[in-house]
Amino acid sequence: MPTAVQTVAMVARQRPQLERLRRRYGPMFTVRIAGFGPFVIVSDPALVKQVFTAPPTVLHAGDHSPLRTILGRHSLLGIDEDRHLEQRRLLLPPFKGQRMQGYEELIEQITRDEIASWPTDREFSVAGSMQRITLRAILRAIFGATGEELRVLEELMPAHTEQGSRLATATYLQRDLGPWSPWARFLRGRAEIDAVLDRLIAMAKADPELEERSDVLALMVQATHTDGTPMANDEIRDQLVTMMAAGHETTAHQLSWAVERLRRHPDVLARLVVEADEGGKTLREATIREVQRTRPVIFFAGRYCMEDYELGGHVLPRGTRVGLAAALTHFDPDLFDEPDRFDPDRFVDRLPDTYSWIPFGGGMRRCIGATFAHMEMDVVLRVLLEEFDFAPTDAPAEGWRFRGVATAPDRGGRAVVSHRVRRPAPGPPVLV
Ligand code: HEM
Repeated sequence: MPTAVQTVAMVARQRPQLERLRRRYGPMFTVRIAGFGPFVIVSDPALVKQVFTAPPTVLHAGDHSPLRTILGRHSLLGIDEDRHLEQRRLLLPPFKGQRMQGYEELIEQITRDEIASWPTDREFSVAGSMQRITLRAILRAIFGATGEELRVLEELMPAHTEQGSRLATATYLQRDLGPWSPWARFLRGRAEIDAVLDRLIAMAKADPELEERSDVLALMVQATHTDGTPMANDEIRDQLVTMMAAGHETTAHQLSWAVERLRRHPDVLARLVVEADEGGKTLREATIREVQRTRPVIFFAGRYCMEDYELGGHVLPRGTRVGLAAALTHFDPDLFDEPDRFDPDRFVDRLPDTYSWIPFGGGMRRCIGATFAHMEMDVVLRVLLEEFDFAPTDAPAEGWRFRGVATAPDRGGRAVVSHRVRRPAPGPPVLV
């Protein structure tokens, strides 16, 4: 097909188009998308493993990423090799497993505040709420924002992220065509955000208790590069914008999908409620993994060949892009029995395989927020199960809407909820 037709098909009907191509060409094929050149899509786990573990000098993920111009040239998502490694090491500590428990209470509170205004007994979309919860969670937990700065960032970030997502793949729009062009408006939004971030950075630098703080901002303000120079404000800002953008929309869409899936699987929903009441979480964690398998919000982890690269018996010329397709690997019947079936039990007491379950990408570029996102989804779902009865539905599944970078349910995850009538805790037997 001509590039223009392929491009339209990949934007408008991404998943059916991918499935069609895999049926026709197998687990490795090339698509041509306007502005991107040849894009080799890979879904076989052995090839996925090879690419994820390739040397970072041979396959880049940053400097040719469409997100680099959107998030800034210093963004972790836009750099490679030694610089990437240095920044990744610096940013990782707040995302390590042992830190997660410390964030749970805060996220529970954020969730309860948000859902206090949910309407009952009428249908509404959960997407907006999920966005507010996940953005606030990043801002408060990961970079300790409060007060006016928190308020302004909460106001500015959602629209900025949405504009950025649309512009990321529409590279032809990334130029200033007058003050009201999408790119000019996007840059104005970024300047406003940068001004708030500069204030936050200045406040952190002046904080007498900076050394005791362990949030990302405090770490970056105190960090030095390997040559001993401190991180400049524009470097810190790009990383903060990256965390906010990469961290909130993805998690929010995934939570909206969770609601969409669970209302269509009342048996799983009922078991989750019982489990939550009993203080367990095994099925809930498995459910989160199954939602991510069946509805991955990021379809590809991308790499770029810096030299001719041999993969699956072919030589990919220098300059070829490679896309590791969660949206295909997760639906491979050789890897997952009846892959279209939503079945959380497949992950109960069994962690998914590193190279066939890849919603967070992999290797040295695996999402640094993966543990945080999992913990956050777990807490939000638990609170929802404790607070509400979700009315099941036999309405058709919501469609996939590609929003430039991530994919979301096309109706935002419609829900009908009512407050749960709580059963009193069992007391001592009453004698009559
Ligand atoms: C369900 C939620 C999320 C999903 C599905 C997701 C997915 C991804 C994917 C697919 C990648 C690319 C990995 C690769 O190229 O191999 C990535 C990278 C990244 N994610 Fe996430 N993410 C989520 C949540 C978060 C959160 C909460 C944060 C931060 C607070 C975050 C920050 C990042 C960053 C900074 C990178 C770049 C890592 C690097 O290049 O070294 N993400 N994410």
